[in-house]
Amino acid sequence: MANETLAHDLDSKLILPPTIYGDMPNPDHILRDVISAPDIAKPMNIFPIEWNHKTPRLLEIYDQCRDPGWSPNKLPWGEFDFDSLTEDQRIGMAYWWSLLSVFDASGPAVFARAMIHAYELKEEDGIRKCFFSVTRDEMNHEEVCGRAIQALTPGGPLGYEPTTTLGKLARNNVQWLYHNGARYWDGYKNAIEHYPIPILFSSFLFGEVASSTLFLSMQEETTIPIFKEAFKHIARDEGRHLSICLAILKNLLPELDEEEKMTITKQIRAGFIFLSGVLFEPPQEFWHLPDTFLPAQRLLEDAARSGGLGILSLEKRKANWRHAIVRMKATLDPFGIKFPALPEIGVDGETVEFDADKIIPIF
Ligand SMILES: [Fe+2]
Ligand SMILES: [Fe+2]
Repeated sequence: MANETLAHDLDSKLILPPTIYGDMPNPDHILRDVISAPDIAKPMNIFPIEWNHKTPRLLEIYDQCRDPGWSPNKLPWGEFDFDSLTEDQRIGMAYWWSLLSVFDASGPAVFARAMIHAYELKEEDGIRKCFFSVTRDEMNHEEVCGRAIQALTPGGPLGYEPTTTLGKLARNNVQWLYHNGARYWDGYKNAIEHYPIPILFSSFLFGEVASSTLFLSMQEETTIPIFKEAFKHIARDEGRHLSICLAILKNLLPELDEEEKMTITKQIRAGFIFLSGVLFEPPQEFWHLPDTFLPAQRLLEDAARSGGLGILSLEKRKANWRHAIVRMKATLDPFGIKFPALPEIGVDGETVEFDADKIIPIF
């Protein structure tokens, strides 16, 4: 009886919501009237609506590198006294970091462009994500180049006023390197959209073989603790990039036709010419450089070496580069991809032409 009174009381106090809906629509009636959306292929929407996983290994690698485990701003920059070096040693080292940045500082823009290309091609989720992580890593490598140059020559490489002849030679060389970096970007950004993923990754593979080889050797040779630490982390990142390329190529290379295989052969020659700029010495086929460039670079490298940066001698560099190339060759041989002739370092193979407008190597 008491409940009934309570219910009656509540009923007398009910307030209706501001909107009262009538009958709910019948889903079958709505379905009868739907109009198909326009074809999403044209104009193409590159944003993902599918998360396909053809290569599970890629997601494993991506999971391992969500946190790269280091950060350029947390390296112990303050622990080394750069003032203990002579000005020419500092200039020589800053010069080498500037040379490196033609390659490593191209990384963020170049890989970001490749990542967008993977979206345009509707590549599987793992490829998109791995490109993202490589872009992030390259941003860290670029930052290390910048921090090293600032620590050695504040305002450098272009805004540092050298007091020595070697310093003036360094600045001129850097300007020429930067000019060539612009030519590389021009070639790359126009070429990338013409190549399918297997061709791109074969080129990227070469860059990663080159960079992991270079940083491992620098890590071993340098006597400056902060640089040793930086090289260790960068080498580990590059090793991961190499694993990404290998995971993708393992599936793609067996499906190539003869024309695609030949394109890879040509791109290896292009990669060799471009990457020799830092792994060895710059060949004229791509590098537009004045006659003073190489003699000045050799003097600068000597100065950097005397300060402890760990640049290999020309002979050791040649052997190191050759070793990297043999690794690359061993990876591609089982898939019937012919290797180009690289007479500069004594490697026999197919003679192929070089076109600076079609290069897609990456570091
Ligand atoms: Fe890098
Ligand atoms: Fe890399």
